[in-house]
Amino acid sequence: MLTDVSLTLWVNGDLIRRTLPASTSLLDLLREHLGLTGSKRGCDLGDCGACTVLVNGVPRLSCITLAADMAGEEVRTVDAVEPDHPLVRAFDKHVAAQCGFCTPGFVMNLSALLEEDPHPDDGAIREALGANICRCTGYTKILAAAREAAGRGA
Ligand code: FES
Ligand code: FES
Repeated sequence: MLTDVSLTLWVNGDLIRRTLPASTSLLDLLREHLGLTGSKRGCDLGDCGACTVLVNGVPRLSCITLAADMAGEEVRTVDAVEPDHPLVRAFDKHVAAQCGFCTPGFVMNLSALLEEDPHPDDGAIREALGANICRCTGYTKILAAAREAAGRGA
C-alpha cells in the first residue's frame, strides 16, 4: 500500500512543506512539485550526475534520494546559482557547455568543491569532475573552466 509522508525542508532558502507519496524522489519533488527544473534527469539511476544538488553543502544525487529523507535538511539547486557566479562566468568564457544537459551537475559538484577549498589542485578538480558524465565536450573545456574558477588560470 502506498503511503504519503509530510515533510518540511529548506530549498534554495525557502521553507517548503509538502505531503507526498513516500516513494517520491528528491528530483521529482524539485522538478515536478516545486517547478525547479535546473536539476536534470539523465539516467535516473545514480550514474550520470546530471541531477546533483547540495544537501547541507554536500553533493547528492537527487534521483536516488528519497524526498522523505530530506526532512529538516537544507537543499540547494542550480536554480539558485547566480549568473555572475565564478563558475558560470568561467563556463561561459571557456564554452564548457555544448548541449548543456550535464552542466547543472558539474556546476553543483564544483561549487561544493570550491566552497570547501577555493583553490583546489588539478587532482581535486578531476576527482570532482569524475562524478559527472558529459557526452559532448570531452571534458577539456570543463576542466579549463574549473581551473579558472579556482583562480588557477586555464
Ligand atoms: S539522473 Fe541522477 S545520476 Fe543520472
Ligand atoms: S554538454 Fe552535452 S552532455 Fe555535457
